[in-house]
Amino acid sequence: MFVRPFVAALAAAILLIATDNTRVLAHGDVTPQPIDTAGLEPLGDEWRKENPYRDNAKAIEIGESGYTQNCARCHGLEVISGGLAPDLRHLDKGPVGDEWFMERIRHGAKKTDGTTIMPAFEGTFSQEAMWAIRAYVESKFSEQ
Ligand code: HEC
Repeated sequence: MFVRPFVAALAAAILLIATDNTRVLAHGDVTPQPIDTAGLEPLGDEWRKENPYRDNAKAIEIGESGYTQNCARCHGLEVISGGLAPDLRHLDKGPVGDEWFMERIRHGAKKTDGTTIMPAFEGTFSQEAMWAIRAYVESKFSEQ
């Protein structure tokens, strides 16, 4: 099984971050890691409305690694949810889905009582990294 070593590696990573970091971590929190987007066309400061990297092989590759490290623990490996968080293969395809995707990845999600259920990634990921993850997630849609 792939899941066991993955969980062990994740636990080790959390320990490392927890002992290495002076920041106080909330329970279940994992510090998101910046994503290296070298090789992708830079997008500048203005937020795009549509994914400029749709079907871009390099973006999908970068996005896969970014997703696996930062999203899979809630949304599931290979974008197949285990029920902890919504299955992202059900998002809308194309520009319609892009907007909602960016809303969530930039701002995260909170319960009505203010508890964070998904962290915000704005300030951690570049716009390039976010669209690369979107390109990867969308590349998984057609496999169903
Ligand atoms: C700590 C767990 C957690 C992590 C990590 C996480 N999410 Fe989420 N995400 C959630 C939960 C829970 C929801 C449902 C929020 C709600 O019901 O309002 C959600 C919702 C979403 C949605 C909207 C889904 C829908 O069906 O409307 C998107 C898109 C999304 N997440 C993308 C991501 C991406 C991309 C990453 C990684 C960069 C990520 N999430 C990391 C927990 C997480």
